[in-house]
This record gives sequence, structure tokens and C-alpha cells, in this order.
Amino acid sequence: MSVLLIQCIHMFLLLISFSSNTFSVPLEQIGHQQNSELVPQGLYNASDMVEVLTVNNFNRKIYGSNRSWLVEFYNTWCGHCQRYAPTYKAVANYFKNCKDIFIVAAVDCSNDINQQLCRNFEIMGYPTLRYFHENYVEGPGNLGLNVLRDGAENVDGNIKIVLNTLQLEQKNNRAKMLPYLHAYEHSDISKIFDKAKQEVQFAFLVLEDDDTMLGIEAALTFHKVPNIFITYSQKSNNVLARSLNFNEFPSLIIIRGGATKPVVEESFQKIHNVKEYIINFLKRKDINVDTYLSYNEKDLKNVQDNNKTKTLIEQDIIKKVKAMGDVVFQMDLETTLRFLLGREVSRNKVIEGEKLLALRDLLKVLTKYFPLSKKGILFLNDLSSKLTNTDSIRGAEISVLIKNSEREGQLIWSSPKQWLGCKGSTAGHRGYPCGVWTMFHYLTVNAADYNKGRRQVNPKEILMAMHGYIKNFFGCAECSQHFQKMAAERKIEQVSSLNESVLWLWKAHNEVNERLAGDLTEDPAYPKRQFPTVERCPPCRYNNGSWNENEVEKYIKHMYSSINIRYMSSDTKILHMGLEDSSYNSSRVLDSIDSSMLLILYFSSFLLLIILVRMFLKRGYRKKPYVHDLLGKV
Ligand SMILES: Cc1cc2nc3c(=O)[nH]c(=O)nc-3n(C[C@H](O)[C@H](O)[C@H](O)COP(=O)(O)OP(=O)(O)OC[C@H]3O[C@@H](n4cnc5c(N)ncnc54)[C@H](O)[C@@H]3O)c2cc1C
Ligand SMILES: *[C@@H]1O[C@H](CO)[C@@H](O)[C@H](O)[C@H]1NC(C)=O
Ligand SMILES: *[C@@H]1O[C@H](CO)[C@@H](O)[C@H](O)[C@H]1NC(C)=O
Ligand SMILES: *[C@@H]1O[C@H](CO)[C@@H](O)[C@H](O)[C@H]1NC(C)=O
Ligand SMILES: *[C@@H]1O[C@H](CO)[C@@H](O)[C@H](O)[C@H]1NC(C)=O
Ligand SMILES: *[C@@H]1O[C@H](CO)[C@@H](O)[C@H](O)[C@H]1NC(C)=O
Ligand SMILES: *[C@@H]1O[C@H](CO)[C@@H](O)[C@H](O)[C@H]1NC(C)=O
Repeated sequence: MSVLLIQCIHMFLLLISFSSNTFSVPLEQIGHQQNSELVPQGLYNASDMVEVLTVNNFNRKIYGSNRSWLVEFYNTWCGHCQRYAPTYKAVANYFKNCKDIFIVAAVDCSNDINQQLCRNFEIMGYPTLRYFHENYVEGPGNLGLNVLRDGAENVDGNIKIVLNTLQLEQKNNRAKMLPYLHAYEHSDISKIFDKAKQEVQFAFLVLEDDDTMLGIEAALTFHKVPNIFITYSQKSNNVLARSLNFNEFPSLIIIRGGATKPVVEESFQKIHNVKEYIINFLKRKDINVDTYLSYNEKDLKNVQDNNKTKTLIEQDIIKKVKAMGDVVFQMDLETTLRFLLGREVSRNKVIEGEKLLALRDLLKVLTKYFPLSKKGILFLNDLSSKLTNTDSIRGAEISVLIKNSEREGQLIWSSPKQWLGCKGSTAGHRGYPCGVWTMFHYLTVNAADYNKGRRQVNPKEILMAMHGYIKNFFGCAECSQHFQKMAAERKIEQVSSLNESVLWLWKAHNEVNERLAGDLTEDPAYPKRQFPTVERCPPCRYNNGSWNENEVEKYIKHMYSSINIRYMSSDTKILHMGLEDSSYNSSRVLDSIDSSMLLILYFSSFLLLIILVRMFLKRGYRKKPYVHDLLGKV
């Protein structure tokens, strides 16, 4: 009986998927928006002071350059990178007038084209800052100097770290194209011209507090102005301040050279804007400073906001996807897996030891539960046995496998590499991390579904596979740390059934949601609330507000179940008939459905067919309906 039913269902699915061409969003329709997400716009663009480097210009710009470079290797979707971006822009802004000698730049490692570049530089955590001194040469081990970061909100702290790096470089006899960056540490002004060039006429001495950087900033800003020398002394060198009779900061002392002994020409105490005083003084000496500046001071407030307006069609997709409620899209699952393998795993130079074990475990559960076409499962199986039969594998090798799987005619993936349910309202929001949560929720639920009533399954197989992946591969280092800590606190080891693992992950995810609520990385269109919300699942909470876990489990199991997957703009032909030969087996998605479910499916398929036929009669056959049509119907 059930075999017969399966056959019937297949016939109908066949019919539906055949006609579903009229339903699917034409792939190119979604494909043309690729720039917004998968070839990400990145966190910086031309209007920032941050120079955008890619694999296409990196070598040309960095190697043999007469400037030195600070390069941030980042990842658009990593929350830490997003929080750090405004600060990095401020750092770039600080150095904006010395782009001829020192450049602040960034490489987006989440952009496919830069993958190899980031791998070559062995970037394992985001963001990573590297300093490349002038005349840098390409070579093994020449990966730039690691530069630490201060807290994401601390602009001054981050600038100081960069300045310290530059000062150290000068101590090492490099960075000579930069102005002299060390403090003036004598007790009087007699040696003020020692570090200056012969022809210098005026020295500007900035006396400042220990935690400000006004002198260096001025020196960098005015480094092209001829015949001047700018230096500074900090409050802690109080001998100099006292000998000059200055006790208010910041102060500026202008000293004339050329005579037998330096003499103070002018001085100002407790001034607001050191640079303005320098400009005014030079103007009085008929030097037009503006011509030596790359950027006018008026542009200083050129603070960038991340308001990247989306095209109307994208906003519309988001709106309609949101209106569909808590659902899972095949497209998000596939996109997540392609990212995971093609970018996260491939980023590693060599995968061995613990990493290899973690990857094997992950592939094992993916092969078992991930919803893919037959050919897709074969692909995962092949990869899985490759990993089992080796002690180490190169990331580049996996990268090639994934690239090949994307080729036309492979029938491995059913959808464009795009986000749908995980699409953020602006670039840099949601996307991959959202996909990772979705995928692992899906896996916990389907492992529980699939193994219902079976004994001898490992109740922790999904959670441990997730843990191994997050620990060893997840590019957001901060998230990984948090997750590992949380897993230990929530005793992931003690999860004793697959049902329990569904709720374990739900609770853990809610803890993260709570922590991130109101965070800068929050997508305003998707505020972080405790899941599921009261509106979506009223019975999930008791009257007293506490969770009704039975209802929550029901809700989550329904939401993430394989039969509830939405195939919007996925090609169901690929999904259900990946192998166009006689050995075509019932898809695993159907395997896990019991016969009562099949009956329902049978009748709903029939109903859908009738609706379809009616629609055809009414509206005629349209080859490529607009995406809105489809969205309106689901
Ligand atoms: C393991 C892990 C750890 C992370 N740690 C951090 C971190 O420390 N700091 C940081 O800034 N970012 C972290 N992130 C990213 C962050 O959790 C979000 O993924 C990201 O901010 C995108 O949020 P989102 O709005 O798309 O929703 P997400 O939180 O990504 O959720 C995706 C979807 O899952 C569903 N969902 C939400 N909550 C639950 C739940 N409790 N149970 C079941 N389904 C649910 C919803 O449909 C939601 O749209 C982490 C991500 C992962 C995968
Ligand atoms: C540095 O090189 C650039 C070209 O790469 C050139 O235009 C510039 O003049 C050089 N600067 C110095 C100080 O040599
Ligand atoms: C850069 O981003 C800003 C907003 O962050 C936007 O206004 C501007 O148009 C963008 N410029 C380019 C060249 O993309
Ligand atoms: C983006 O900027 C425009 C005008 O600059 C503004 O009207 C709009 O509200 C902004 N959008 C967001 C999401 O901030
Ligand atoms: C898991 O929960 C389902 C109901 O959602 C139940 O039918 C099944 O028996 C449970 N499995 C175990 C092993 O408790
Ligand atoms: C809330 O109500 C439920 C059922 O009525 C009960 O089991 C639970 O203990 C209550 N929780 C609190 C915090 O009172
Ligand atoms: C079809 O599935 C059955 C059991 O599920 C399996 O034994 C058989 O090998 C499969 N055939 C093919 C060609 O995959």
C-alpha cells in the first residue's frame, strides 16, 4: 500500500516539479542581485578612507611599494568585523593625509575572489590586522606583521596601537618616509632640530597629555609641508614643560632655527585645535598649507554610515519572506553548506588532526540528514569517504571540489547561491551565521525525526558535529569562543536523546539572542527576540510567562521538519530527480515521512494540481513570472 502511495506521490511530484518552472523565480532574477550578498559589497567602499584591496591588486600594491600598509583581513558577516568597521574607518581617517606614505586598507575575505589570498596569508580569525612595511617582498613566511587591536569602540586605543607599530618600525630603521614619530625627550629646546632635516626653519613642539596624540597627528598631516618639523612632548616629561613654564595642555611652542641657538618665536597655551594654530602661523609666513594636504580639514566629519539602500525588489523579497513566518528555505540550507565547505573549510591550508576528525563527523551527519538531491548526497558521500581515507587534506582541494560542484549540469545544488530567509536588510547583516543556526536546527530536528523509535543512535551526533565545526572552522572567532563556553556551561556532553538535543540548541540559541539583543550587529528588520515569539506561538508560553517546552518542541519540530521546507526558487526537478536513470530511488526526504503524512501530501498535491490547471486556464502560460507573483502565492 505505502509503496503504491509512494509511486503516486512521485508521479504527482514529477508533474508538479515539471510545471513548477512556471512558479520558480527565474534564477537569473535572483542571480542578478548577487552583488548584494554573495559577492558582498563589503564593509568599506571607495568613499571611506580605507583602501579596498582584492586579489586583483594586492600584489601590485603591496610588494615593492614605497609606502607602508596596514591591511585588515575581515569578513563581511562577522559581527566582530562589523563592530570594528567604524573604528577602522576612524583609524583610516586619522591617517588620511599621509596616503602617499602609509595606507590603511582592507581585504574582504568573504568575497569569493579573495579566498585564495586570505588562505595564503593564513588568516584564521577575523578581523586580522597585518602591517606590511615599505619594499615588502613576496615570499614564503612573509605574511606581514600581526598588529593587535584594542576594543572595537576605542578609536584612540586602536590608533595608538598603529602608531606604536610605526614607531617600532622607525626604531628598526624602516618607515623613514614617515615623519619622525617619537616624542622629544630632552629637558630643554636646544636639541629640537637634531632630528630635523638641515633646511628646516621652524619646529613646532606640542606639549600634550599622556593619552593624546595631537603632535603625531599634526606631524602626519603636515608631513608634506617643506621646511618645518613637528614634534611633541607628553605631560610625563614634566622637566621640559617646567623649564618652558608651561603647565596647561595642550600647548604649542613654535621655535625658530637657523640662528646659533633655537629661539621661541611664538607660543600658545591650552589651545583647542593644534592643527589650526599651525596652519594660521604658516599662513602668516606665506605658506599655503592647503596645497600640501590631500584632504581638506573640512572633510574631517566625513563619517560614513552604513546605510546601503537596497533595490526595491530586494526589499520586497524581504517583506514577503518575513510575512511567511518561521519557515526554512531549501535555498538557505544549500547556500549555507556551499559557504561552509567552499569558504570556511577551504580556508584552511591543511586540515588534519582534530580538525579532520571534526570535519569527518560533520560530513557524516550531513550525508545522513541534509536535504539534497541524490547527486548531492553522492557528492557528500564522496567527500566523506575521501576524508575517511586520509590523514590530511588541503583546503584548496576541497575548494576545487566545491567549485566543480557548482558547474552547470552537475545537478548537485537546486538553487542559486543566495540568501532568502536569511537575507539581511542591508549588506553585512544576517546571511551566513543565520544559515549556520538554521542548518543545525534543521539537522537536530531531522535526526530526531528520522531515528524515532530507533535505538543505538548517538543522541549527541548533531550537537557534537556542530561543536566540532564551530570550534575548528567557524570564521567568527568571537562566536566560536562564546559557543564553546556556553556548550560547557550547558553541559552539552550530558544530552541524552535526539529530542533533547533539539531543545538544547533552541535554548542555547535563545541565550545568544538575548546577549545580542540591541547589539550594533542586530539587523533592524530582524530584532533579536526570544524564539518563538508570543505572536507566532501563543501556546509556547504558560500564562505566567515561562516556557511550555512541549509546545516549543512541537513548534520547532514542525518548523524545521523536512516536509516543511520551502522550495521557493529551488529547482525541485533537481531535488527529486537528481539521477535521471532507472535506479532512481525514493528521495530521502520522502523516506522519513510516514504513510499518514504521505496521504496528506497526496491530497495536497492533487489540490495543487487542480489549482495549477485552473490558473493555466485563467492566465495562460507565462514563462518567467515575476518574483512577486511567486512570493504572493506561497
Ligand atoms: C554558533 C554561533 C554563535 C554565535 N555567536 C555570536 C556571538 O557571540 N556574537 C555575535 O555577534 N554573533 C554571534 N553569532 C551570530 C548571531 O547569533 C546571528 O546568527 C546573527 O546576528 C544573525 O542574526 P539573525 O537575525 O539572522 O538570526 P539568527 O540568530 O542567526 O537566527 C536565524 C534564524 O533562526 C531562527 N531562530 C532564532 N532563534 C531560534 C531559537 N532559539 N531556536 C530555533 N530557531 C531560532 C529564526 O528563524 C532566525 O531567523 C553566532 C552564530 C552562531 C551560529
Ligand atoms: C611612490 O611610488 C609612486 C608610484 O607607485 C610614485 O607616484 C611616487 O612618486 C613615489 N613616491 C616617492 C616618495 O618616491
Ligand atoms: C559607499 O557607502 C556609502 C554609505 O555607506 C554610500 O553612500 C556610497 O554611495 C557608497 N559608495 C560607493 C562608491 O559605493
Ligand atoms: C538611508 O538614508 C536615507 C537618506 O540618506 C534615509 O532617508 C533612510 O532612512 C536611511 N535608511 C536607513 C535604513 O537608515
Ligand atoms: C521524541 O519526541 C517525539 C515527539 O515529538 C516522540 O514521538 C518520540 O517518541 C520521542 N523520542 C524519544 C526517544 O523520546
Ligand atoms: C508557570 O506555570 C506552569 C504551568 O502552569 C508551571 O509548571 C511553572 O512552574 C510555572 N512557572 C513559574 C515560574 O511559576
Ligand atoms: C535504493 O534504496 C534501497 C533502500 O533504501 C537501497 O538498498 C538501494 O541500494 C537503493 N538503490 C540505489 C540505486 O541507490
